[in-house]
Amino acid sequence: MNIIELNEVTKSYARGEEQLQILKGITLHIEKGDFVAIIGPSGSGKSTLMNTIGLLDIPSSGTYALDGVATQNMSDNGLAELRNRKIGFIFQQFNLLPRLSAIENVELPMIYAGIPTKQRKDQANFMLEKLGMGQRGHHKPSELSGGQQQRVAIARALAISPSLILADEPTGALDSKTGIEVLELIKELNQQGNTIVLITHDNHIADNAKRVVTLRDGEIIKDVRNEPLATLVAQEAVSS
Ligand SMILES: Nc1ncnc2c1ncn2[C@@H]1O[C@H](COP(=O)(O)OP(=O)(O)OP(=O)(O)O)[C@@H](O)[C@H]1O
Ligand SMILES: [Mg+2]
Repeated sequence: MNIIELNEVTKSYARGEEQLQILKGITLHIEKGDFVAIIGPSGSGKSTLMNTIGLLDIPSSGTYALDGVATQNMSDNGLAELRNRKIGFIFQQFNLLPRLSAIENVELPMIYAGIPTKQRKDQANFMLEKLGMGQRGHHKPSELSGGQQQRVAIARALAISPSLILADEPTGALDSKTGIEVLELIKELNQQGNTIVLITHDNHIADNAKRVVTLRDGEIIKDVRNEPLATLVAQEAVSS
């Protein structure tokens, strides 16, 4: 079962008289439970593709079905509702609201989803604890380290049990040690069955995904599945 089905998706922007083509006919199908890294040079269209998958941007042409729901003729409200129900976002800059505490930040998507106060607060506390941030719930983002802020952002992304987690350079603003911790966390989420689409320009991070899609100039130029480590180890054992 595919959670994402993009068919011949294009995205263009008008610049004066010209049409600037950013995505040039992307066909991409992603299975439930997969962990896909999207790589490619700066300006190749990675974030545009992610915004499209995340229903933040509407394709100029082509079709997109998310979890079996065709999105091309939906209203803005319909798209927002689908997005709030199905997708958890993790951004490079965390995008936490500075005046809200960690708990309140995690509560936000649940407010949009109409979850009652008590249940929402319990769930926010539970998620923060799960991410090792149980002691920090009442802190404002400015009182937290980068790694801690990203944990709060991940707790927020997971609060509504999304079908799909979208991460745009989630370790880009972190030092390498904290980046590795966040990457491990994301791998764990995938092992628990979450579908992950992660944008990175770091090949080492992409090596941790199950599938790597390379964009260049708004086109997919490469799409490969990484061998699971266990298979490589087994092959090594046979050949030696
Ligand atoms: N709203 C917009 N209007 C016009 N052009 C845009 C818009 N958004 C993005 N672009 C252009 O689309 C191209 C792709 O941008 P995008 O942000 O998707 O690249 P990217 O692969 O994510 O790059 P980076 O690795 O630097 O984040 C760029 O040339 C950018 O200038
Ligand atoms: Mg980008």
